[in-house]
Amino acid sequence: MIDDLDKIMTVMETAFDPQYGEAWTRRQVEDSLNFPHTHYSLVAADGTFPAENVHAAGFWMSRSGFGEEELLLLAVSPQYRRNGLGLILLESFASAARTRNNERLLLEMRRGNPAESLYRGFGFLPVGLRKAYYATTGGERIDAITFARDIT
Ligand SMILES: CC(C)(COP(=O)(O)OP(=O)(O)OC[C@H]1O[C@@H](n2cnc3c(N)ncnc32)[C@H](O)[C@@H]1OP(=O)(O)O)[C@@H](O)C(=O)NCCC(=O)NCCS
Repeated sequence: MIDDLDKIMTVMETAFDPQYGEAWTRRQVEDSLNFPHTHYSLVAADGTFPAENVHAAGFWMSRSGFGEEELLLLAVSPQYRRNGLGLILLESFASAARTRNNERLLLEMRRGNPAESLYRGFGFLPVGLRKAYYATTGGERIDAITFARDIT
């Protein structure tokens, strides 16, 4: 049997470029999911929620509180990209956040991440900047940009 943590980690291991150190370890995901305000969902290659023994093609994780829900991670395995799954995941994130009565979605992204056009297309706009917040394995410093979208 493949549990949801296995499904998340299969995507995690292929989706993130190692130079940015953005992938979480299994332990980090497991610990985070033990908090009551952490949430996640999965998508299969056909855009539906994966059945029990079907691997995921993508997932999101979020943290909810004080009327806001922050997207912690969003990923689709490389072989399934540019097929609309990222958008399906964002829609499921927004809809889940609404059911928890949140009014605003937040996320933080390193400057230059191609995911920016996905986020902007979904209505996210930049609201904050942390200069040189991230460091690559090569020592380069990259700004973090905070994006937000109201869902009221
Ligand atoms: C970001 C990510 C989740 C997008 O997943 P996806 O399934 O390819 O996204 P979609 O197919 O739903 O894309 C929808 C639209 O967003 C835009 N978009 C998505 N990825 C893009 C890219 N790499 N470059 C430019 N535009 C992109 C396009 O407008 C796209 O529509 P189109 O394919 O018709 O042109 C995926 O590339 C990924 O997992 N990246 C690595 C992890 C990451 O950086 N996550 C975000 C930060 S936590």
